[in-house]
Amino acid sequence: MNTKELINTAKALVANDKGLLAMDESNPTCNKRFAALGIPQDAETRRAYREMIITTPGLSECISGAILYEETIHQQLTDGTPFIKAVTNTGIIPGIKVDGGAKELAGHPGEKITEGLDGLRDRLHQYAKMGLRFAKWRAVITIGDGIPSQGCIDANAHALARYAALCHEAGLVPIIEPEVLMEGNHTLEKCFEVTEQVLRTVFNQLYSQGVALEGVILKPNMVLPGLTCSKQNTVDEVADATVNCLLRSVPAAVPGIAFLSGGQSAELASARLNAMNVRFKNHLPWALAFSYARAIQQPAMEIWNGQEAKVIIAQKALLHRAKCNLAARRGEYNAAMEKI
Ligand code: 13P
Repeated sequence: MNTKELINTAKALVANDKGLLAMDESNPTCNKRFAALGIPQDAETRRAYREMIITTPGLSECISGAILYEETIHQQLTDGTPFIKAVTNTGIIPGIKVDGGAKELAGHPGEKITEGLDGLRDRLHQYAKMGLRFAKWRAVITIGDGIPSQGCIDANAHALARYAALCHEAGLVPIIEPEVLMEGNHTLEKCFEVTEQVLRTVFNQLYSQGVALEGVILKPNMVLPGLTCSKQNTVDEVADATVNCLLRSVPAAVPGIAFLSGGQSAELASARLNAMNVRFKNHLPWALAFSYARAIQQPAMEIWNGQEAKVIIAQKALLHRAKCNLAARRGEYNAAMEKI
């Protein structure tokens, strides 16, 4: 492990007001999104879709790193360039999702544990040799009747810390993603309480496993009311709650926090990140950035719809979202940007 290099990579992922593009949907998740739009669900269509994304002109002006999926790193662009090389050539740092997905947690109905630690050490060394420089592991926490349990939070936090330590050993920056889901009728206050509990547990586990916090990126949910909660808070209320929750639970040594979008609309994901930076930027120990999948890709996927003829216009939509989020990091995003 070269700690200096890890720290430099982590810093580069949140430098210059850029953010991450998560394009690492597993095959089942990608197929589900394609199916909803009537797009064929096969390896070639997933490849073509990801080529559309990564060849978007100007993408690297807003995007620092791209999270790829296992299938994609073995695929090539139409001109034969392997994806990892194509990403690197644009000046974007390539990374990869390495978890094995969230499965039912035994003895805990309604709760999940992310699998994938077995054999991870060898895989990570292989990824580093292939030119990948960071990794991602997502844990899922559900708010519901009597859940989350401390048992579920402990198990997921422990796995995240074991993964992070293995990443550092292999020279990869771990993106640590404990996602408290938006699904449910819980209040913003409940999400705050659970998110704080989850983050404190994750950082305790990272400490136990000896992970250098200067070389990680945290990818949390924003603090939001549940999707079916009768009270939907304002953008500023979400910004205040999210930053206050993070201030209580994320050590200052962490260089950057890059939010997931979690099913928020693309516009809200930009507006909420913007509000946090308008209100708090320059007063925080860490950068507040983005690592969105749906909130960057969804409008472009809908336009593309599997058609070669739509590539250029879909790329414009993708770049637009990337630019909106770059502006949100600067606290310069506004609704007028959406009218262009
Ligand atoms: P969303 O932004 O669509 O939540 O995806 C982020 C992600 O990488 C999930 O693991």
